[in-house]
Amino acid sequence: MDHQLLNECRWWETGVIYQIYPRSYQDTDADGIGDLAGIESRLDYLVRLGVDAIWLSPIYPSPMVDFGYDVSDYCGIDPIFGDLDAFDRLLTAVHTRGLKLILDFVPNHTSDQHPWFVESRSSRESSKRDWYIWRDPLPGGGPPNNWISDFGGSSWQWDEATGQYYLHAFLKEQPDLNWRQPELRGAMMAVLQFWFDRGVDGFRIDVLWHVIKDAELRDNPVNPTWTPDRTERDRLWQVYSTDQPEAHEIAAEFRALADRYGDRVLIGEISLPDDRLARWFGTLDQPQIHLPVNFHLIENAWNADSLRQMITNYAASLPAFGWPNWVIGSHDARRIAARLGEAQARVAAMLLLTLRGTPTLYQGDEIGIGEVTIPRDRVRDPQDLRQPDLGIGRDRSRTPMPWDTSEYAGFSTVDPWLPLNHDWQQRNVAAQDHDSGSLLSLYQSLLAVRRQYTALVIGSFAIVDSVGDVLAFERRHGDERLLIALNLGDQSQTLPIPKGTVIAKQLCSTITPRTAIPRTAIPRTLEGKLAANEGLVLQLSEQP
Ligand code: NOJ
Repeated sequence: MDHQLLNECRWWETGVIYQIYPRSYQDTDADGIGDLAGIESRLDYLVRLGVDAIWLSPIYPSPMVDFGYDVSDYCGIDPIFGDLDAFDRLLTAVHTRGLKLILDFVPNHTSDQHPWFVESRSSRESSKRDWYIWRDPLPGGGPPNNWISDFGGSSWQWDEATGQYYLHAFLKEQPDLNWRQPELRGAMMAVLQFWFDRGVDGFRIDVLWHVIKDAELRDNPVNPTWTPDRTERDRLWQVYSTDQPEAHEIAAEFRALADRYGDRVLIGEISLPDDRLARWFGTLDQPQIHLPVNFHLIENAWNADSLRQMITNYAASLPAFGWPNWVIGSHDARRIAARLGEAQARVAAMLLLTLRGTPTLYQGDEIGIGEVTIPRDRVRDPQDLRQPDLGIGRDRSRTPMPWDTSEYAGFSTVDPWLPLNHDWQQRNVAAQDHDSGSLLSLYQSLLAVRRQYTALVIGSFAIVDSVGDVLAFERRHGDERLLIALNLGDQSQTLPIPKGTVIAKQLCSTITPRTAIPRTAIPRTLEGKLAANEGLVLQLSEQP
């Protein structure tokens, strides 16, 4: 481990981020919903797991129509989660353990209950009228343009009292802010300052590429390939409603503020193709976002050829100073174990933690929570409630953490707000902690290997030629050479070994239990095979 070099790197380059969905982590006040005190009580678990930073989905006061992504006060804590004192206690506890804390910042929209919007909608003459985007109907009547909300239906909501429409990219209860208004801009910068001053280490910025709209609000072009099995949003290409040039100025402002505080991070939720995603890094002279989120592992087909191509393209798209990042799960995406099955979820864990770039884990993926069927009468996700036939419900990825086999899985003492994963009696943290062959043990091993080998953290990356459904690459730093070989299929395959090297040590396998890893002996690899669904991290040395 090259300690000196690692010390020169920034924590968000070398560290591993863990996303917590606060409603579903740990309840301590018996309301069936997780809270800040609950998160604090589980910090030692995260230290043992081996992650470095925690990102919390929104914890601010909110009517919870979109479960906290509808903020009614940017500088407070929703009583469901605690209060500012509980937050300060959590922050101190996080820092005492050497961890970092990242908050969610939601700049595109507020709740319709936010005092700014209440004021804005009170009259056309309101001093905050233009803090939001209000427009008259078209001359013949109807909404000002054809934009479609991400959750379905028009993006425009009619306001009877003042006789205008307001814009909402998501729910009508989430009116979009007008980032062309200087006072609003100042007020939002003050929000970031408020939390930076309190000591938070950074922000994940919600739907950053949505933040400013075309000045003329032109119609979005129709997508001719749309079919009704896709979300209504996809009927149009969001050419004028997202990714506007002016949004980059806002990102640069955020960054200038963050940089004034020193070692803080900005993570931008941005869903765009590589060339447009890379622009969000900004330039060396005017940097923007440290980590524009890369969703490719969630979206890409799961086979070696296509993953190899995607990884190569993504790396090629980055500016020289741009640091990559990777994610395989979130509170919005389908669970990785549901999508790929348990065997490949293990391979995915190895891929996530060995690629070049900062990985973000999502709570519950470390124990392989898979598909959870939510009975219709328990569905809470507003997106699912509005478009029930598309199978895009997000509740199934937001179910409570199952900690042990006690009632309600140790998450709460009452029936939780969403059902538990149906196999919680077997699939829970305590059970997997004691099982050296579990997914949790694999995550612990992988995170431990990352700490041990600098090459995995900041080493170079090169694809290694392979045959069959095998993805292989080498990470290298100084004399340290590691081969990562992943069998994405259920047939055994040839293990690709780079020319001029031999295998010195097996560091981790997705199918060999932790305690049984032969640290020096390499029985299977001598045969030159990767078993079905096997991923290996191997140390290489030069051929003698
Ligand atoms: C992205 C968030 O991740 C999602 O959960 C939310 O519904 C939308 N942004 C709207 O804020």
